[in-house]
Amino acid sequence: MVLVAGSANLDFVVRAPHIPAPGETVLGGTFQTFAGGKGANQALACARAGGVATHLLLALGEDAFAAPIEASLSSAGVTLHMVRPGGVATGTAFICVDDQGENAITVAPGANACLHAAHLPPLQGFSHLLLQLEIPLPTVTAYALAAQAAGLQVVLNAAPAGPLSAALLAAVDLLVVNEGELRTLAGNSGSVADCLTRLPCDAVVVTLGARGCVARQGGTFHLQTGFKVPVVDTTGAGDTFCGVLVAALAGQHTMADALRQASAAAALACTEMGAQSSVPHAADVAALLIQATRTDEAAALQALRQFAGLP
Ligand code: RIB
Repeated sequence: MVLVAGSANLDFVVRAPHIPAPGETVLGGTFQTFAGGKGANQALACARAGGVATHLLLALGEDAFAAPIEASLSSAGVTLHMVRPGGVATGTAFICVDDQGENAITVAPGANACLHAAHLPPLQGFSHLLLQLEIPLPTVTAYALAAQAAGLQVVLNAAPAGPLSAALLAAVDLLVVNEGELRTLAGNSGSVADCLTRLPCDAVVVTLGARGCVARQGGTFHLQTGFKVPVVDTTGAGDTFCGVLVAALAGQHTMADALRQASAAAALACTEMGAQSSVPHAADVAALLIQATRTDEAAALQALRQFAGLP
């Protein structure tokens, strides 16, 4: 059983030809709202992966923005541990998606900022705790330490990027980051492999967009190339990766297999608009894994190895 503790937002999304520069106004297309938030997206991805019961500790306001988030999570079978601080709005995110599917996101945390240490539910029965950094850092640290003490595997997706205390890193078994977050935490010098090695956690995964991902597990490196898909919107792809990765690890899959499943799911999450709306079902991930016998696999693997600075 997996417990996710983190943010839930309503995403306000506009597509535009490009993401505006500071001071620039861009005329975009249709405005849409989607259920989002890194914590909620990851919980939904974990649940949709199947095979493991998923719970989510979240905080929502008592406003109209909360209902679509609750509906999305409930329809995926996520068990909710809900905190409802009075007089605070549901978290919101303002997202511009460009014609290449890349995004720029600004989050107004609202109720997410009210989650604190005392809200953590009893941990009996959970094997994994999955955290991100869209709730207060002292809360994340308290949850990680409590889970470590209770014998859970602690997984931290260190997004959005920021410096982390040694105490928090020492409580994390598996760290998941993108390349920018990796360099924020490990410093900007050396290769991707050097950065992975400098971090103190037992296992670290770095996602590298379309290239794929690289994991260091103890002293062993795993490489997983990306799956080629038509990209519509990359929002939530990293969250899908994290949720599916943890579902697979909680289901006793090997790291190599978990990386493959997570990468395929993250690729599919780029093929539709929105965060939770684009998280694939397990059958679609399985279908992509079956059909993905790529003729250029060896070349893609070699390119990934070279990019990561591995021999
Ligand atoms: O990772 C994507 C998510 O970041 C969006 O759903 C948005 O809510 C922000 O939390």
